[in-house]
Order: sequence, then C-alpha cells, then structure tokens
Amino acid sequence: MSLKKTVNLLVIRKNGVIKQRSSSWWSQVAMGPPDAILGVTEAFKRDTNPNKINLGVGAYRDDNGKPYVLPSVRKAEEKLRAKNLDKEYAPISGIAEFCKAAIELALGANSEIVSNGLNATVQGISGTGSLRVGAAFFSNFYPGIKTVYLPKPTWGNHTPIFKHAGMDVQSYTFYDPKTCGLDFKGALDDINKIPERSIILLHACAHNPTGVDPNLDQWAELSSLIKQRNLFPFFDMAYQGFASGDIDRDAQAVRLFIKEGHKIVLAQSFAKNMGLYGERAGAFTVTTESQEETARVMSQLKILIRALYSNPPINGARIVAEILTDPALRADWLKEVKGMADRIISVRTKLRDNLKKEGSTKNWQHITDQIGMFCYTGMTPDQVEKITKEHSVFLTKDGRISMAGVTSKNVEYLAHAMHTVTK
Ligand SMILES: Cc1ncc(COP(=O)(O)O)c(C=O)c1O
Repeated sequence: MSLKKTVNLLVIRKNGVIKQRSSSWWSQVAMGPPDAILGVTEAFKRDTNPNKINLGVGAYRDDNGKPYVLPSVRKAEEKLRAKNLDKEYAPISGIAEFCKAAIELALGANSEIVSNGLNATVQGISGTGSLRVGAAFFSNFYPGIKTVYLPKPTWGNHTPIFKHAGMDVQSYTFYDPKTCGLDFKGALDDINKIPERSIILLHACAHNPTGVDPNLDQWAELSSLIKQRNLFPFFDMAYQGFASGDIDRDAQAVRLFIKEGHKIVLAQSFAKNMGLYGERAGAFTVTTESQEETARVMSQLKILIRALYSNPPINGARIVAEILTDPALRADWLKEVKGMADRIISVRTKLRDNLKKEGSTKNWQHITDQIGMFCYTGMTPDQVEKITKEHSVFLTKDGRISMAGVTSKNVEYLAHAMHTVTK
C-alpha cells in the first residue's frame, strides 16, 4: 500500500468496532463512459483537418454549417422584451398558454380532447424532461405491467430515462438492417408477443436514430394491434414539422391513435422544430376519460414535478406560446420549419446523387426514403472508424449521420468519403 493510500485511510471506532474507510466519501465511484454523441463532438473539435465534418450531434445547421436561430423566434423575443415581463416562478405545471398551445399543435386546433378538457398537460424540461415526468408518472401510477417496450434501435436516452424512474425496459423489432428500412412484419410479430397491459413507446415521426417511419396504413395496423393487445401507447414527438415540413402530417400517427379511441400519453419537444435547443421547452400530456380524471392526474403530476424540479423555466415556453398564438408569427414559423425540413430533404437527394456520381454501386435508396434529422447509413463500425480516421467525418458508431450537418458545400466531400470506405 502506498504512503498516499495509507494516509487516505481513517480508523474509526464505533460501538467498540474498529472500521477503516477512505478519507473520501466518493472513492468507490467508478469513472463513467463519456456520452456517445457528445463524445463525437469532442473528437471533432480536436481534429485539425479543414474539411472535417461533424455529423454526430442532432442540431440543425444552415447551408453554411452554422447554427440557425429562427426569425420567428427573434421576433417573439422582441415582442416579449417589449412586454417587460417579470421573472416570477411559473406554476408547477408551467405556463398555461404554452401548455394549451402545445397540445393543440399536437392534436389539432379542433381537438375534442382539448375542447372537452380531457387532457392533463404540463410543461416539461424539453423532450427529455417531459419523458422523465411521464416515466415518473407511470412508475407511480400505471395500473398495468410497468415495463416499457422500446423500438430496436431507439434514441440512446430512452432506456436511461425509464430505468432512472424505476421502470423495466424491453424492446421490439423495428428496423431491418438488410433494407435499412422498417421491419414491419418483425414489429407486428414482436408486438403480438408483448404481455397485455404493458407500455409501448412509439416515435411519432422522424424516428431517431433510423429516420424510418411507418406509413399511414402501417400506423393504422399498429393501432389496431396495440388496441387488441391492450397495450398503452406512449408517444415521443420530438420532431413535429421537422420530418415532412408539415406539422399536421407529422402528427398523423398521434391523431390516428386518438381517433381510434386510444388513451395515450405524449412527450413533446420544441428543441428541433423551433430551434430552441437550450431553452428546454417541452410538454407532457395524459389523455383522460373525464374532466374529473384530468384534475386527479394533474394533481399528481404536480406533486411529482414539485419534487423533481419544482417548476419549469419560463423563457422558452413564453417564446413558443408567443409564436403559436400570434397568427402572423405562427405563419412565419410554419414557413421556417418547412424550410428546415426541405433543406434536409434536398441534401438527402444530393448525397445520394453524389454517391452515384462517385461510382458507388451500393443501393443508397434508404438515404432518400428515410426522413427527419437522421440517416441510418448502414455503414459498419469498421467503416465508421475508417471514415473518421481517414476523412475526418465524425459520426456515431452505429453509422447514424445527422443530415442537418450536411450542406451543399460538404456533400461532395462526404459522398467521396462514404464511397471510399464502403466500396
Ligand atoms: C426521439 C427523441 N426524443 C426526445 C428527444 C429530446 O430532446 P430534447 O430534450 O432536447 O428536447 C430527442 C432529442 O434528440 C429525440 O431524438
């Protein structure tokens, strides 16, 4: 034992028993692994290649590769500044106008759920915090089997969020690596085997990380099967408007389930569709049987939130509420979100065209079939390592690229690098 270690040990006498422990309370804490996605950005920053590309992080970039603050957000900020609002605490459940506008955006302006008061909606700390409140609610109050079934693969934070709240986590087939598309039959087969009264998590649109979404007919089939199996649908909607450029189209799965009579819960995020990443604006909703049930559910959500973080931040929610409730600003925003989605859709085509120009004979159809921020390229871990080492293209090991980082300026370089490592 080194001298340092000896010095670090204390001898303590308790009830006549001699015990030894390190002088630090935390010496038993093991070093944790770095975050898979943020670790990619760290490696990117260290690289000195002027052509380097960061396709790891899921944040929108303009065609010059720069972060984009939406003009509607800037205008909303100006309007808010002119109002000279105070900085008092928000209610535990968040800003009421924000919550109403958020759920109406998801369910539609004429939603009977909203007009009849059949939704308990609280403001959450963006999508992650909303999911976490939802996980806490299920952990405490769900009367069925407290196991949530996640699509395979899914966003890397789903498992930790649900486990952190004490839920069991399992998975169901979703993606087919052979086609880089949906394994619909595999999904149906697996869902058929999920024990009744379990919870199933569904990405409402722009599935992360695969960019693979069921079509409307497939959603209808999923809806009947989920009803038949008596499963509870938990929707995660982090990309409304960002997938197709049309907020109504991107909400079609959620609205279909509501129309088919499901009771659902829904986590929403305004990080991507309003570019409010760091503002942490989101919402969590439970749909209910009656207004009386809404009141009971709401009371318990508030008790959970009070213990978790007391009340949510005000700034982002004020911006969202301003945009969604001012008709002119809302119209501007709808154009801007479509602009972001269209840029991503167009750069998908450019990437595919350039791979063809490079002479790649591989089938890259999935690049344009997939939707939203991400493309699951099908590159193997070895190819990912090679493209990073030899071409300074940074992405996660699973071969996922953030299409938001691809621009008309770097797409040729990227296609060349992808072809070189996959041929
Ligand atoms: C599927 C999915 N859910 C939720 C989130 C939550 O994001 P945020 O907490 O930034 O709103 C993300 C972000 O990447 C996501 O991809």
